[in-house]
Amino acid sequence: MLLPMSDPHRHTRKRPRNDSLTTLAARSGELATPSATAPLIEPIYQSTVYAFPDLDALEAGMAGQQDAYFYYRNATPNGTTLERAIAALEGTDAAACAASGMAAISAAFLSVLATGDHIISDERVYGVTYALLRDELPRLGIEVSFVDALDLGAVEAAMKHNTKLLHVESLTNPLMTVADVPSLAELAHRHGALLSVDNTFASPAIFRPAEHGADLITHSLSKYLSGHSTAFGGVVAGRADLVAAARLKLVRFGGTVSAFDAWMTMQGLKTLGLRMRAHSGNAQAIADVLQNHPRVKRVYHPGLESHPQFRLADSLYPDGFGGMLSLEVDDAGQFVKRLAGRIPLAPSLADVVSTLSHPWSTSHRALSEDDRRRIGITPGLLRFSVGIEDIFDLLGDLEAALE
Ligand SMILES: Cc1ncc(COP(=O)(O)O)c(C=O)c1O
Repeated sequence: MLLPMSDPHRHTRKRPRNDSLTTLAARSGELATPSATAPLIEPIYQSTVYAFPDLDALEAGMAGQQDAYFYYRNATPNGTTLERAIAALEGTDAAACAASGMAAISAAFLSVLATGDHIISDERVYGVTYALLRDELPRLGIEVSFVDALDLGAVEAAMKHNTKLLHVESLTNPLMTVADVPSLAELAHRHGALLSVDNTFASPAIFRPAEHGADLITHSLSKYLSGHSTAFGGVVAGRADLVAAARLKLVRFGGTVSAFDAWMTMQGLKTLGLRMRAHSGNAQAIADVLQNHPRVKRVYHPGLESHPQFRLADSLYPDGFGGMLSLEVDDAGQFVKRLAGRIPLAPSLADVVSTLSHPWSTSHRALSEDDRRRIGITPGLLRFSVGIEDIFDLLGDLEAALE
């Protein structure tokens, strides 16, 4: 407020106690905490920046001498809470959350690999991971070899002096092959490389790769960890130094998780154990029924004795095999249509509600037709993410669709 020239206190008066409405509005919203009680559920910390009391505190925070949040892209309380929860479930030192599963996988790769290094990947990995390895990493001067990771001899033969990383999925998308993580970890370490495992299809409720020697574990958070198709993100878990290196890439390339998605994932994570038990039980029952159905050509599920890695799966997955299976039918289009209104066609997975997906035209469309067929992905293949519905309702829906 401009003071009138006649005001005798013009030069000495303090600022008026009653700020203008504009100032009052801009400075409103003072925190109502602390309180004698604490919220049972962590609030969403949507603030994109934090205030420091003075320059010393700013220096201590920025230098990392003191735990202090300062900027949303670096860290948020909701992100940290989720990271601690996932690290505890995976049995790792630490975890760093990302904006998507692909952001987590990219950060894991870029934190280990530099120009002139070599990575070996299973050829059956998720289509976008495959495209990242095939199209993007070579542009950075990183050599990439795709192998059949079920063939340990082939993996060993692909190892070179500059191999830094071996990447596999614990249960592959969509054909449910089972990675022999203990043997792959031993092999990678013997050659001075690290093992990275995408554990999205399994979740730590049924498989913890770090217990079997894996160094970096990644997930797409929108799958089992959150479980309701409402949150989006990714995570890299592992040894503290490896996670710190991946976090640096996430911060610099701008791929950290949002507070809201971290918070939403945290709500879903609380029921992970219960959900996975229900998913596993339903998927096993459906696989058992479908494998004997005359209209179903083939079922891919690690809990079937006919599965090529059944013995390995049985030893690595004592608590069930999760909710994913794939099936091959003559006419995938007809099957999907007959399930419409009961089991939606939706290209994601791991929701509490069952969904179907068509890998040929979604997750693996970045691969050439020949490459898709070579790894077993055909136009008749459907991926079934089995939900937690009543098993008799699910079997009734499938029976009716196959009539
Ligand atoms: C096994 C697997 N890994 C990684 C991803 C990528 O995750 P996002 O879509 O969160 O980037 C997916 C996505 O479906 C996936 O199925």
